[in-house]
Amino acid sequence: MSKRASPPARLVVLISGHGSNLQAILDACASGELPAQVVAVISNKSQAYGLERARQGDIPAVCHPKPKEQARGAYDASLAELAAGYRPDWIVLAGWMRLLSPAFLGRFPGRVINLHPALPGAFPGTDAIARAFEAYRRGEIEHTGVMVHLVPDEGVDSGPVLAQEAVPILAEDSLDTLAERVHAVEHRLLVGTLKVVIKP
Ligand code: GAR
Repeated sequence: MSKRASPPARLVVLISGHGSNLQAILDACASGELPAQVVAVISNKSQAYGLERARQGDIPAVCHPKPKEQARGAYDASLAELAAGYRPDWIVLAGWMRLLSPAFLGRFPGRVINLHPALPGAFPGTDAIARAFEAYRRGEIEHTGVMVHLVPDEGVDSGPVLAQEAVPILAEDSLDTLAERVHAVEHRLLVGTLKVVIKP
């Protein structure tokens, strides 16, 4: 008896900016490397170039900024409602630069995956690559890295680690060359991790 192939996993990708990691996911879905489909891209920033990448791929691209006067919990609940409407199997935070509260996370327990351009416990928050580069110049570290992890709670770039990879910092590096290498690792590690995690 032949086994029917499972449908591709449904991903909602949350972004705030350039969307190069979103692009890596889109390319991997298109090539068949990732048995998934991006069913929506949601950004909290209207200028995020990732929205344009989604449109170019005929994927719903939704801008959902937080109004200043709206409470964080109410915004997160509305974001969850919006994302849930696309019936995601997984929520992928690919350069999403807002902390998510239980009002969002409670809707997708164990199903939210975050990418961060540093190793577990190092440089949480924004500008992680620049802060690692400065730490290297002060002689404090010799490498930085990338991690992909689950987001169980409001911890900043913390949670059960799904994958990590060190990225050496070279004496001849500028911030730009280091950032370029970190991003290349991110693109590969994020897609590789999703491949393992979404396996039916
Ligand atoms: C990536 O480096 C990602 O790891 C980082 O934002 C960048 C988005 O790049 N996320 C964080 O710093 C989360 N704390 P992209 O928009 O080109 O994918």
